Amino acid sequence: MQELSLHILDVVENSLAAGAKLVTIEISENLEADLMTVVISDDGHGMSPSDAARATDPFVTSRTTRRVGLGLSLWQAHARAWDGDLELSSKPSLGTRVKAWFSLSHIDRQPLGDWPGTITGLIMTRPGVDFLYRHQVGEDEFELDSREIKAELGVEALTDAHVAAFLKDEISQALAALGSTA
Ligand SMILES: Nc1ncnc2c1ncn2[C@@H]1O[C@H](COP(=O)(O)OP(=O)(O)OP(=O)(O)O)[C@@H](O)[C@H]1O
Ligand SMILES: [Mg+2]
Repeated sequence: MQELSLHILDVVENSLAAGAKLVTIEISENLEADLMTVVISDDGHGMSPSDAARATDPFVTSRTTRRVGLGLSLWQAHARAWDGDLELSSKPSLGTRVKAWFSLSHIDRQPLGDWPGTITGLIMTRPGVDFLYRHQVGEDEFELDSREIKAELGVEALTDAHVAAFLKDEISQALAALGSTA
């Protein structure tokens, strides 16, 4: 994995596989504390305490095609390599929260990458799922809530290509306006 966007996508894929109807993605950049935090929470089916405790173990997976699950263990390995860590909490039938944090300025830290394209792709291709995305840089914050956009446009799903292009643009501009260094 070469960019943070792909790690986030991977964690969100887990949420979708767990039947989530709402996925919340919170990214925060704190230059003063030299800290970047990425929190992904869902309302999916969750995990038992023992499964949650083992979920970052690369040999744990509910996959049937391959015995090793890599998403979380790789994300944790990277967070640790960038002077941070990953914390997972989950409640059966309530949902799961995966929090990763690391040094914003770490020389090896991957760039955020094509996050506007990644999140827009998720929103467009998962009409039955809502996404709440918050991005904070210092005191400034951007928020995008697919439920609000649907309500404003009076549509059931955000699958229109023009809407997607608009969203992607809006997110790119918001990141620039926030002064994101991710
Ligand atoms: N949000 C979640 N809700 C419920 N279970 C989860 C969630 N995230 C992870 N899990 C459980 O933890 C396991 C490990 O997840 P991980 O992403 O590391 O591997 P994977 O999804 O099985 O495979 P890969 O990500 O490599 O395709 C999953 O197989 C799943 O059983
Ligand atoms: Mg996975």
